[in-house]
Amino acid sequence: MSRCILESERLLLRPPERRDVAQFAPLIGDYEVSKNLANVPHPYAEKDALEWVSHLDERRARGEAFQFGVTRKSDGAYIGGCGLHLDKGEFELGYWYGRPYWKMGYATEAARRVLEFAFAELLVPGVWAGWFHDNPRSGHVLTKLGFKAKGFEKRSCMARGGDVGCNIVTLSSETFAGRAPS
Ligand SMILES: CC(C)(COP(=O)(O)OP(=O)(O)OC[C@H]1O[C@@H](n2cnc3c(N)ncnc32)[C@H](O)[C@@H]1OP(=O)(O)O)[C@@H](O)C(=O)NCCC(=O)NCCS
Repeated sequence: MSRCILESERLLLRPPERRDVAQFAPLIGDYEVSKNLANVPHPYAEKDALEWVSHLDERRARGEAFQFGVTRKSDGAYIGGCGLHLDKGEFELGYWYGRPYWKMGYATEAARRVLEFAFAELLVPGVWAGWFHDNPRSGHVLTKLGFKAKGFEKRSCMARGGDVGCNIVTLSSETFAGRAPS
C-alpha cells in the first residue's frame, strides 16, 4: 500500500494518532476553523477526535481515505491536517490549520505534497475540492494549486448546523503536472 509518511520543505505529514488528539482537538475545535469544514461538529470534544482517529487505519487499508496530520519539522508542532477521501467515486481534497499557523504558506505547501501523492502514487486522474462562499482564503489556496471552477452547490456544514453555498473545483493530473509551484 502507498506510503503513509510524506515530506515537504518545512513539513512532515503522517497519519494522525491517539497521542495527537490533545494537540489538534482544540485547534480544529476553534469555530473559525470548523465553520469552514463540512464534517466537523462544534463544539468539538476530544472524544470526537478519538473516534475519528480510530477509523483511519481501516479506511486507509480499504483505499477510502488518506488523512495526514501536518507537523512542522522545525519544532514538531502539530499544526493541522490535510487529506483525501473518496466521495461519489472521486477523491476530495480537504485541509485545515490551527489559527496560529495561518498565512505562512503551510496549507499550500502540504496540499501540493498530498496532490503529488494522489497523482503519482494513487494514480487518480483528478481530485476535487469544495470551498464555502465566505471562505475566499481557501479558494485562493486552491486556485494557486491549479484547481478550476466546476460548479456551485449547497453543502451541509455540521458546525453551522445547516446548508452553506459551496464552490466546487477540480484539478486533473495533467493540469497539476504542467504547473510550476508558485
Ligand atoms: C484556509 C486555510 C487552510 C489557509 O491556510 P494558510 O496556511 O493560511 O494558507 P496559505 O498561507 O498557504 O495561503 C493563504 C493564501 O490566501 C491568501 N489570503 C488570505 N486571506 C485572504 C482572503 N480573505 N481572500 C483571499 N485570499 C486570502 C493569502 O495571501 C495566501 O495567498 P498568497 O500566498 O498568494 O499570499 C486556513 O485559513 C484554515 O485552516 N482555515 C479554516 C479551515 C478551512 O478553511 N479549510 C479549508 C476548507 S475548503
